[in-house]
Amino acid sequence: MSEHSEILARLFAPVEGGMARMRRVLEEQLHESSDAVRDMTDHVGRFRGKQLRAALVLLCGEASGNTTDEHAKVAAIVEMIHLATLVHDDILDGAEVRRRMACVNQRWNNQVAVLLGDFLYARAFGLSTTLSSGLCSRLLSETTSKLCVGEIEQSTRRYDFELSQADYERIAGAKTASLYSAACELGARYPGGNERVGELMRCFGWDLGLAFQIIDDVLDLTETTEQLGKSAGTDVEDGKVTLPVLFVYRSADEGTRAAIRDVYTAAGIEDRARKLAEVCDLGPGLRAAMRRAKDLIAACRERIVSLEESPARTALLEITEFITERRL
Ligand code: FPP
Ligand code: MG
Repeated sequence: MSEHSEILARLFAPVEGGMARMRRVLEEQLHESSDAVRDMTDHVGRFRGKQLRAALVLLCGEASGNTTDEHAKVAAIVEMIHLATLVHDDILDGAEVRRRMACVNQRWNNQVAVLLGDFLYARAFGLSTTLSSGLCSRLLSETTSKLCVGEIEQSTRRYDFELSQADYERIAGAKTASLYSAACELGARYPGGNERVGELMRCFGWDLGLAFQIIDDVLDLTETTEQLGKSAGTDVEDGKVTLPVLFVYRSADEGTRAAIRDVYTAAGIEDRARKLAEVCDLGPGLRAAMRRAKDLIAACRERIVSLEESPARTALLEITEFITERRL
């Protein structure tokens, strides 16, 4: 077992049985008799990743004393929606590598990748209609529209160096934190009721997801594709002005600002992320972004200290640490 899988196994130990059930549901749902589709679902099945969002459903359920026989299904539904968003996101970003494998849009093409994302999304919602409560479908359909709004706004604000931190966080929150937050709320509340703890977990998930996205944006600038296991440097390439760049741009002189804009927009630049680091000192922006992520992590830890002590609560607290160190 690699160090990474050992960490995950330890963190997810309090919900080991639920995770095994969740994986069985996922496998059943990814099964498809068409050979063409099966090749693709096998491919995304192999790049299954951390399954962190599914684990959050189960851990938040355990930590708030709310577990049902249907939690594993809810966790699988959340994970399938996450998979669908990744398949679509890689098309939008023109990404090549995800979880150390070729993205669906690379291995096949954009057309089938759009359809595979739709297929996964439809399967997720099909499964949610078999649940005894409508809470999961309702919350996840609201969440998916939020995700889409976040992606649309991100796209319309490309190359916008006047973006405020609040706008950046609203967009990053919508595209990433919303699914974290829904996963945590569903864990704590499904099939219904339990509103106070549900609200607490929803906020916990939001701060955690936002911190995750900020750190993701830091790493996109500082790490290589090899280190990340997914395409690096795509934010600059795609015109996304992320938090570290916003911070640097805000305090730069006009000459440096013009150089930054040029790196984003001039034709024929090979490796824009590397070039960006040459025309300005990214250090202060990267550090300020990490400070913001750490503040969010501190806030989300604070939220769950009031829960009764349990192995699941300890695991949630550890997850927040691993996300800060980005060992997850
Ligand atoms: C990752 O951002 C993107 C997301 C977390 C959300 C993507 C959502 C969509 C494309 C909408 C999908 C809609 C349906 C109906 C399935 P990123 O590019 O910053 O992260 P990355 O580094 O992992 O690529
Ligand atoms: Mg992406």
